[in-house]
Amino acid sequence: MSTEATANPLQARTRAELWSATRPWRRAGERIALVPTMGNLHEGHLALVTAARRHANRVICSIFVNPTQFGAGEDFDRYPRTVAADLAGLATVGCDLAFLPDPAAIYPNGLTDATRLVAAPSLAGVLEGAFRPGHFDGVVTVVARLFNLCRPDVAVFGEKDYQQLLIVQRLVADLGYPLEIIPLETVREAGALALSSRNRYLDEAARRTAVRLSEVLRDTAARVAADEAPHGELERAARDRLAQHGFRVDYVAVRRSTDLGVAQPGERGLRVLAAAWLGETRLIDNWPVA
Ligand code: PAJ
Repeated sequence: MSTEATANPLQARTRAELWSATRPWRRAGERIALVPTMGNLHEGHLALVTAARRHANRVICSIFVNPTQFGAGEDFDRYPRTVAADLAGLATVGCDLAFLPDPAAIYPNGLTDATRLVAAPSLAGVLEGAFRPGHFDGVVTVVARLFNLCRPDVAVFGEKDYQQLLIVQRLVADLGYPLEIIPLETVREAGALALSSRNRYLDEAARRTAVRLSEVLRDTAARVAADEAPHGELERAARDRLAQHGFRVDYVAVRRSTDLGVAQPGERGLRVLAAAWLGETRLIDNWPVA
């Protein structure tokens, strides 16, 4: 483990800087972990870094607001960028290197002529993918580049973005990356609202309502576990409750945890996933069925 638990992380902005920082680690046989983020770091992100430290000698946290995963009209331009605070946060959890790539370090030939990947259709075409076409292609495109540049032995991803986690695991399996993906449980506020960079778009009233999302998911997961009613009925009831609280619901879905397939009655290993809008803010969350 690195001993500099409270030191400011080194910073790299170019490929050359990244490689000159990581080459000695690799030569010394140290295990390297990567935590990819888009910044505006909160306790959820920092928990990923802490988990990464348990699995590696060196931890790289990347901060890059990736343009290829945002659709037209989404919040790319207004996505919160708070690098100074992010670096201070990383210093508290012992991150060895903050990779803050210049766009050219990730997309050296620009965006329109960039080589891109297509995420596995069965996983990427549903739920989030149905509402954000192309989103997961952008995610795998950038995550593959981050893997290639950082060459980590492990990478940590949050269950908060459960569909993304499955898609990244599939990316690793399909392309044969020699690395292990470590999933981490969602970090929540008191009241169970999942921490999210997008929570900062919410005013105080909206924040009070936002708590209902996890509440409805948790209740729905309990009702699924108890086989209270067919899944379709429980999904509909959850959507209605969220709508009553003032959400505009994109989806609430009971799916298999392994492949997001529609679950058969009585099947185990399920998860309830949802996306819903409060005003202009889109929140996502999911809850395991015990
Ligand atoms: P971002 O939304 O910044 O999230 C970075 C990582 O933090 C993801 O693995 C996400 O699941 C995790 N995370 C977010 N909120 C969390 C919470 N409350 N508890 C635990 N983990 C949480 O996801 C992305 O960025 C991007 O799509 C990225 C993978 C970096 C590719 O651009």
